[in-house]
Amino acid sequence: MTRQTIVAANWKMNGDSKLILEMSEALNALTLKNKQVIVCPSAPYLANAVSVFSNQDIAIGAQNANEHDKGAYTGEVSALMLKDLQVQYVILGHSERRAIYGESSELVADKVAHVLGHGLTAILCIGETESERENGETETVLKSQLDPVINQIGIQAFENVVVAYEPVWAIGTGKTASSEIAQQTHEFIRGYLASFDTDIANTTAILYGGSVNAGNCQELFSQADIDGGLIGGASLKIEEFSNICSAE
Ligand code: PGA
Repeated sequence: MTRQTIVAANWKMNGDSKLILEMSEALNALTLKNKQVIVCPSAPYLANAVSVFSNQDIAIGAQNANEHDKGAYTGEVSALMLKDLQVQYVILGHSERRAIYGESSELVADKVAHVLGHGLTAILCIGETESERENGETETVLKSQLDPVINQIGIQAFENVVVAYEPVWAIGTGKTASSEIAQQTHEFIRGYLASFDTDIANTTAILYGGSVNAGNCQELFSQADIDGGLIGGASLKIEEFSNICSAE
């Protein structure tokens, strides 16, 4: 089963209009073979990024969306607004949102439903903490993060969901999961989706995230069940991110 490789840049609360321009120029110089590159800047820069990258085969993603279309939710951004801006992807359930802003897997499922309802693709982040892995709870945690989406929307949700497996202990720590651990976990995730629908499981892209850089991406991306990466820190460095996008 061939799935297209996806490389998504999660800029978090970093970057500015200068970085958008410079990244656009750098990526324009590359030939991106059978690879979807997605740049996810902070919300205030989305419109600018859509316009700057408009002539390139690069999609723009947001880092969050509210679970309502509109209303008295000061400071929030809705999927409806993102659709209007021609944003195509939305990162949801990132571990920073779960840990710092208390987002539950049920709330994340509501957000996924909203994002899909507006024809956008969700990048659903799941992953265990270090202690959960040490206690042998990784699979239970991953299921508990996938189940609310499956229960609320159905397995068909994954026709428009990209899964990003990001072990929390590997995010921003420089401690990448070994390609064996990452592959084993991706295989588990695909197998779990397959227990509901094999075709959907075979076509769902599952990205790895957590300290991916130009030096380790090739080995990670070449694993059978790893379909690319969600890149944080390294996606802010133009040369490094260009090298990740060029990896075979
Ligand atoms: P990192 O972040 O690449 O800096 O570890 C990944 C992420 O949080 O999406």
